[in-house]
Amino acid sequence: MSTAVEFRNVTKRFGDFVAVDDLSLSVEKGQFVTLLGSSGSGKSTSLMMLAGFMAPTSGSIFIDGEDVTGVPPDRRNIGLVYQNYALFPHMTVAANVGFPLKMRHMSKSDISERVRASLEKVRLGAFADRFPAQLSGGQQQRVALARAMIFEPAILLMDEPLGALDKNLREEMQVEIKRIQQDAGITTIYVTHDQEEAMSMSDNVVVMSGGKIEQAAPPAELYEQPRNAFVAQFIGSANVLLGKFNTTDGQASFVSDAGASLPLAVPLPDPSGTRKTAIIRPERIRFTVANDPNAIKAVVETVLFGGTMIRYAVRAGEQRLDVVAVNDGNPPRHTGELVHLAWDPKDFLLVDGGGV
Ligand SMILES: Nc1ncnc2c1ncn2[C@@H]1O[C@H](COP(=O)(O)OP(=O)(O)OP(=O)(O)O)[C@@H](O)[C@H]1O
Ligand SMILES: [Mg+2]
Repeated sequence: MSTAVEFRNVTKRFGDFVAVDDLSLSVEKGQFVTLLGSSGSGKSTSLMMLAGFMAPTSGSIFIDGEDVTGVPPDRRNIGLVYQNYALFPHMTVAANVGFPLKMRHMSKSDISERVRASLEKVRLGAFADRFPAQLSGGQQQRVALARAMIFEPAILLMDEPLGALDKNLREEMQVEIKRIQQDAGITTIYVTHDQEEAMSMSDNVVVMSGGKIEQAAPPAELYEQPRNAFVAQFIGSANVLLGKFNTTDGQASFVSDAGASLPLAVPLPDPSGTRKTAIIRPERIRFTVANDPNAIKAVVETVLFGGTMIRYAVRAGEQRLDVVAVNDGNPPRHTGELVHLAWDPKDFLLVDGGGV
């Protein structure tokens, strides 16, 4: 594998404000990488610097090993799709898609051939003569995709391309974009603040916050080994417990600040008294029998019946915990019920620090 894109210590300031803070990131050829983060975390700014529409305050950007920091946008061989990247309303679908080739002075016959092939790829072969207003939102976005890819760019950038679509269409388009991206083998950097979208589409997800990378990893690794409580809560949901290790009575445990003593079925990784943050996913907590040696006692406070899954809020001492169970057809637990809970030691994750 070789590196298609590299940000090397890239910082972008607007006055005193640091929008992108010493960003270093490599993207391999053909990879689908998503920048995921809440509003204002620096995703679009990073993309705009890569596309060449904005210059970094410091640091360098490389494409195919070449420093492009000072290279203008039209010389970077990058295709772009935005959320509201409006198609030209007075032009047909075919004219919209062929526009970048016209700008590159390609012959009419070559353009029409390429447009035809490109519309086939996004499954809009029959729509060439329509105008944008005669298309659904998803179809318009596919036209925008065909237009971004028609000059066969080395890199495709997409900034919230599905933001304006409703949920069903969004999910359909996620599959479609992934299919097109894989067929073309095109290196893609995608921006979203939807964690499910990021997880389901990407080879690698870059979790950003305050212009910095919190963690960059494949989706399963982010979920199973979040580096900190922020990532754990951003990707899926997580019980985050602050507390410290304890070894009284010869048994290793984690005592949360809220007073719950959680048995650790593994040797203590750090000296007793060390402050840690523990993370446990709600679906990794299971109901168990009263004499399970590693069980904790809790009281059910709320029950949310969701069909496939049942969500419980329980209280162990003063410690609130969320528990998610698959609906197995048995009656759900009820409010006020005393329950016993346990988990696999591997699902009890310890990260540094006290603060969240
Ligand atoms: N031209 C500008 N001048 C001043 N501040 C800016 C400018 N462009 C962006 N910012 C600020 O930089 C930060 C990062 O903006 P950016 O657009 O990269 O966020 P984002 O992660 O794309 O957010 P969103 O999900 O809302 O699109 C924000 O706080 C924003 O207000
Ligand atoms: Mg943005």
